Amino acid sequence: MSSISQSVEDYIKIDFEQLMINKEITFSLYIVFIMNNHVILFKKNGSILDESFFKKYGKKKLIHLWIHHSENEAFKKYLLPEEEENKEEAVSKNEPLKEPQEATLEPEPEIAEPSIPEPEEPPPPEIPEAAITIEVLNSEEVPEEEKKEVTSELAKSVLNKIMNEDQGENEKEQRKYAKQFVKEILENISSDMNHIIKEIWEMGETDPELEHAINTSTYGVIFALAFGKIEKETITNIATAGLLHDIGVVKMNLDLFEPSMKDSDLQTKNKITQHVTHTLEILKNSPIKIDSALETMILQHHEKFDGTGYPNQIQGFQLDDLAQLVNMANLMDEICSGYYDGTPKTIEETFSIIDEMEKDRSFPENFNPEIFSEVRRWTKNMANEEEIESAAIMVGKQAQDIINKDLEEKAS
Ligand SMILES: [Fe+2]
Repeated sequence: MSSISQSVEDYIKIDFEQLMINKEITFSLYIVFIMNNHVILFKKNGSILDESFFKKYGKKKLIHLWIHHSENEAFKKYLLPEEEENKEEAVSKNEPLKEPQEATLEPEPEIAEPSIPEPEEPPPPEIPEAAITIEVLNSEEVPEEEKKEVTSELAKSVLNKIMNEDQGENEKEQRKYAKQFVKEILENISSDMNHIIKEIWEMGETDPELEHAINTSTYGVIFALAFGKIEKETITNIATAGLLHDIGVVKMNLDLFEPSMKDSDLQTKNKITQHVTHTLEILKNSPIKIDSALETMILQHHEKFDGTGYPNQIQGFQLDDLAQLVNMANLMDEICSGYYDGTPKTIEETFSIIDEMEKDRSFPENFNPEIFSEVRRWTKNMANEEEIESAAIMVGKQAQDIINKDLEEKAS
């Protein structure tokens, strides 16, 4: 861990807009996670914030940053126009003030136009959680443990957004936000996957058939990041497994998938099981690189903790932990989309249904209870926090109404 102070009260919040392009910062910039009492060093004292920094985090994307209170004077000085700064320095050194320089005819150096991006260069991230995740994961300064903690907090914050969605427009927006978060991370950390992600994701924006693939990939990657899995290969594998786990259904009669999961008869269910092996056959004959970790994730995406899954009835702790995350993401989207029982659900309702499945038995049905209970711990805490916040807003509003009424009565 770093030696920076972790007391959030030692930091002062500043506006992102106060920062200046191409001017050296004479103080360090931090990100403070107030809820979790956690601080990370974002930019070191002496860094120059160049155009690409402002493009990446500019307005609306990153609103605040923090400085340590001991560097407040340096920050105030940084805000002064340059001639004021010279004056201050001269006074403090008892030197005669420099004459203001003659204005030269030379034009101010213009900020260079951004160079034409390399063909493979991804666009700058739009989602603030993604921008910070990418910055932290690519940083050589941030220690490994800290990378995991920060990435985990950011992933949980995105999970929080989709957990507290309502049905309707807001729901679509929140899920879109989560998908964009994962897409941007993948584009930036996983160059091997660029073309696959781009193509499938872009097709998915217009092709509803691909929605399940993208959602499974999205939830799988968010779970993995929240568990502190930050190795690029792991994230890439989970994303690929999410996108391609069901590709084998193209070899099957699609009518098999018409009835909901609950309403399918045994014969149909048995036929459907073959899609797992079809998927692996297709992938092994494709140019996509399949390592054993990715193969396991795909092979186990319908296995269950109680051994009643398919195709190999693997049981208990023999199941691969990462495959369990893909499995959880897959089931989540099957329930959410309505494939499970014919009625679409919110993520909150989906988790309640999975809770019931796991509670109904003496032995957990679907997932390793250690993994599932951890996910539930995050999601339940978040829902509570949100409820408390909404309740506080509601009480605040009611109080304001009473005050307003009182004032009106007095005035009349
Ligand atoms: Fe499947």
